[in-house]
Amino acid sequence: MAKAKIIGTGAYAPERILTNQDLERMVETSDEWIRTRTGIVERHIARDDEDTSDMCVAAAAGAFESAHLTPADIDLIIVGTVTPDYRLPSTACVIQQKLGAVNAATMDVVAACAGFLHGLSIANAYVSGGLYRRVLVFGSEKLSSITNYEDRNTCVLFGDGAGAAIVAPSDDDSGIIATFLKSDGRLGDLLAISAGGTHMPFGRNGNNDPKLTYIRMNGNEIFKHAVRQMGDACMKVIEMGGITPEQVSLLIPHQANMRIIKATAERLKLPMEKVFLNIERYGNTSSASVPIALDEAVRAGKVKKGDYIIGVAFGGGLTWGAALIRW
Ligand code: ACO
Repeated sequence: MAKAKIIGTGAYAPERILTNQDLERMVETSDEWIRTRTGIVERHIARDDEDTSDMCVAAAAGAFESAHLTPADIDLIIVGTVTPDYRLPSTACVIQQKLGAVNAATMDVVAACAGFLHGLSIANAYVSGGLYRRVLVFGSEKLSSITNYEDRNTCVLFGDGAGAAIVAPSDDDSGIIATFLKSDGRLGDLLAISAGGTHMPFGRNGNNDPKLTYIRMNGNEIFKHAVRQMGDACMKVIEMGGITPEQVSLLIPHQANMRIIKATAERLKLPMEKVFLNIERYGNTSSASVPIALDEAVRAGKVKKGDYIIGVAFGGGLTWGAALIRW
């Protein structure tokens, strides 16, 4: 099988910023609590008229520019999101129309914070199998649209944004070396939205409280699973790739909580200089987290040709995954 590689990345974050000080005025919390318990200082919040697909289109610009491609070159669009523009059509279809990517097939992937890594793994399989040659993968979320700003357990964590990557065949030894995905549906209730699906249609049978459409979360339990599974997923791709943890140049973790990130780095015995961090400025943007961080790392020159890097994420479902990439 041929190898697939990332040939371009892009990212976008909305202009509006919600700081910890803003949140102090909204719920019973403090800048100090948020910083020390999570590492977050501020997050970006989309405009009312800015959809998940709009953020993808903005993120795609950077990916097209760095890959030297145009929308007509894309033959598959994959969007990791839990905040689609509509239930129907898919966000990938909306993006196809907005970009004018007329030659593409499309699909949305629902894997919460691990959505981008699921998309990347699918793109890798298709490109290395020869079915598609230019796959545009997004992680994009408007989490502000499903966040309860009266619930301090969740509202301090989340932000909006989008990241993009274009996957294409590799003609050298760089490429996606290994991907690992896993889920545990038994633990789905730890991070969930009650209404809006077939189980509890919103607006019917008296289910009219908007709070039913917001994220509810058992943070403590999620935290424990995230620490264990993110570490395990990294070790798995390291093993699959036949390298050692010391050979990893940069870890690009899901930016959910600084303590989860530090625990993952410790598990790999990686010094924090080898861990890319932007949690301070974005908070948890779910599926957008890893691709935004990847794009920033690439643009900051922190990823060099030949480097081994790992992207890793964990989220609702529960779902998790990692990818080992030789840049
Ligand atoms: N401000 C002040 N106090 C707060 C806040 C807040 N924003 N939120 C909770 N507290 C209080 C709690 O009520 C509790 O008070 P109590 O002891 O009087 O009951 C106390 O702080 C400690 O609460 P814990 O939940 O034990 O705090 P913890 O140290 O676990 O941190 C957190 C909570 C930040 C949510 C953490 O568990 C976490 O990050 N979990 C992962 C959640 C996550 O990222 N989910 C998103 C998707 S999955 C993922 O992306 C990995």
